[in-house]
Amino acid sequence: MPVVAKGLEGIIAAETRIGDVRGQEGVLLYCGYDIDELAGKVSFEEVVHLLFHNRLPTTAELAGLTTALRAERELPQGVIDYLRTAPKAARPIDVMRTAVSMLGTYDTGRHDLAMGENLATAIRLVAQIGVVAAYFHRARQGLPLPPVRKDLGEAAHFLYLVTGEEPTAEAAGTLDVAYVLHAEHGFNASTFTARVVASTLSDMYSAISAAIGALKGPLHGGANEGVIHMLEEIGSPDKVDAWVEDALAQKKKIMGIGHRVYKVLDPRAPHLRAMAIKLTEQLGEPKWIQMSERIAQLMREKKNLNANVDFYSATVYHSLGLPTDLFTPIFAISRMAGWTAHVLEQWNDNRIFRPLSEYTGRPYGQKVVPIADR
Ligand SMILES: CC(C)(COP(=O)(O)OP(=O)(O)OC[C@H]1O[C@@H](n2cnc3c(N)ncnc32)[C@H](O)[C@@H]1OP(=O)(O)O)[C@@H](O)C(=O)NCCC(=O)NCCS
Repeated sequence: MPVVAKGLEGIIAAETRIGDVRGQEGVLLYCGYDIDELAGKVSFEEVVHLLFHNRLPTTAELAGLTTALRAERELPQGVIDYLRTAPKAARPIDVMRTAVSMLGTYDTGRHDLAMGENLATAIRLVAQIGVVAAYFHRARQGLPLPPVRKDLGEAAHFLYLVTGEEPTAEAAGTLDVAYVLHAEHGFNASTFTARVVASTLSDMYSAISAAIGALKGPLHGGANEGVIHMLEEIGSPDKVDAWVEDALAQKKKIMGIGHRVYKVLDPRAPHLRAMAIKLTEQLGEPKWIQMSERIAQLMREKKNLNANVDFYSATVYHSLGLPTDLFTPIFAISRMAGWTAHVLEQWNDNRIFRPLSEYTGRPYGQKVVPIADR
């Protein structure tokens, strides 16, 4: 009997040198570096270099990459016009997906396997994706779009565009660590989607807009927005127990809990938890973290399931004053580094993805009955 690996569980679909998710040990590696080693020690820009080139940059290489990223921030006027005129009620993640697709129509360069050109496209996408999200957020509120700046790092620049004010070093540093933690995660659904599209020798923009579509789902990157909606619905720490019991009785999935690969704690969660505790304390709003801690405890006790990356990142972004529907776009901004690195790697040793399926439909030999007799 053929074995059907539902959800491709346990299937090794390709080799990669970029990231490794060790589910039994709760370890995440970027190019051989444990995420615990990277978080807080290197910037997001250094991680971008690591993922693209398989090694951390020297001072000169980092300066080169930083200059290249900052030089590419400007969006084509047509994309700015779209962000200004897109429906104000549209979800930012949908606008982001559409804008990435549009960006592809402004890049009329050759889409072949020439590494140099594709690397330049990858850098451009990392540089522009945050501007897309921030500009739409301002445009939907009827606010002016500040010109891009070249004197701020990726995380600080995003916060600057969203708020129109220069962020504190602490806020920028917090978001930078969150970017580092979200930048790469092996063959997750959106990265695999990007690689499948790239494997047909389609272009980078097509691969990335498809990846954004995959990330948006509540079982993947959409879970961080779901966490805040859940916490808002619960309302206060004393209501958590009854809410969780009811949700489990109804077989609902608790957002931010559980993982396909990690059978122990997601190694990104403790970093985000520490940041969430610090920020909620500073804001004098402990109820968010109190509710989160109780949900995590109950899910460990009742279902032996742990918090994942989205569980605490939701409270971190909320505490930074960011609106809930920008959470998944922020995930996309940081994961752009991993997606584009994987697309480059796919093209470096390409074979089209083409799995099989087990047919369970009607038996062979059906005959067409005339339509009037059906
Ligand atoms: C991440 C996720 C999609 C993994 O899905 P998966 O690999 O198919 O996991 P499974 O559905 O096989 O989980 C095993 C069991 O735990 C349960 N479970 C998993 N996650 C759960 C959750 N968040 N809440 C409640 N129960 C959960 C499943 O219902 C299943 O129970 P059963 O054996 O009684 O049917 C899933 O855990 C989930 O939906 N989590 C919430 C969304 C989320 O946070 N996504 C972000 C991931 S980084």
